[in-house]
Amino acid sequence: MRVISILSTKGGVGKTTVAANLGGFMADAGLRVLLLDLDAQPTLSSYYELTKRAPGGIYELLAFNETDLARLVSSTGIDGLDVLVSNDAHRQLGTLLLNAADGRLRLRNLLPAFREHYDLLLIDTQGARSVLLEMAVLASDLAVSPVTPEILAARELRRGTLQLVEDIAPYRQLGLSPPPLYLLINRMPAISANARLVQQTLRLIFREHPGVQVLDSEIPAIEAFPRAATRGLPAHRVERRRPSGRLAASALEILCGFASELCPEWRGRFSQVSGKDERKRERHAEST
Ligand SMILES: Nc1ncnc2c1ncn2[C@@H]1O[C@H](COP(=O)(O)OP(=O)(O)OP(=O)(O)O)[C@@H](O)[C@H]1O
Ligand SMILES: [Mg+2]
Repeated sequence: MRVISILSTKGGVGKTTVAANLGGFMADAGLRVLLLDLDAQPTLSSYYELTKRAPGGIYELLAFNETDLARLVSSTGIDGLDVLVSNDAHRQLGTLLLNAADGRLRLRNLLPAFREHYDLLLIDTQGARSVLLEMAVLASDLAVSPVTPEILAARELRRGTLQLVEDIAPYRQLGLSPPPLYLLINRMPAISANARLVQQTLRLIFREHPGVQVLDSEIPAIEAFPRAATRGLPAHRVERRRPSGRLAASALEILCGFASELCPEWRGRFSQVSGKDERKRERHAEST
């Protein structure tokens, strides 16, 4: 089971969008995916319609060490895609974990409960520094930080997100290395000299930065993402082909490229998601 956390200490950069779409895409590629919503504002929990709502969520998992998946895990209308909903409405988990001896390691210690049931655990986090965020990073094999190509977002990345990774480095003494951090340029406008400059600067700064890498994949600013969110669907189901007159690739191609760069071991499965679409179109063409 792979564990990927999506984080940024800056709000509104696209964490939930990336978690929901990457999860939906990987589930359509036949993987068993669990979305874990660690944001007290339960945006990811409400992205997909839930076909079965479990009585519990992250509160029971983290406050009571509940590991009975039937009590914790809700199902979505997408095959293979489950959610552990955020239900910490009173924001008690932060204080609770801060005062617990195993605080930042609690999620990591609970991972065995999910291991044989899922191929991928995808964690969405809150856009601010917190003990929950540090706990998510320490439980992950890799961390993805979306960054929008704006100077203020780039500065906050330096100040907040990179600082967090540095601060948890002492856990190395316990044999826990912080996961590699992948920066994902998100909401790249089609034409903007300023955005291009920030994007190039980010790539330059992190060219040889230990532990941090800017992904080759970029996510353009396209309507398909908000449109898909409105319909409660992953964007690759909403936009399979590049709309005519637009430079940016289709949401399907974008998500396939991003998922393949992140998890190259499943690349073959990912390309089949587009292949399936081709076959469906061919069958449709034959029957009409
Ligand atoms: N690539 C994109 N193209 C167009 N719109 C996007 C893209 N990525 C995200 N958005 C839009 O930007 C808004 C903010 O995205 P999102 O909620 O995913 O950010 P977030 O980092 O999770 O925010 P928060 O810190 O509040 O949790 C949403 O309306 C979303 O639809
Ligand atoms: Mg969010």
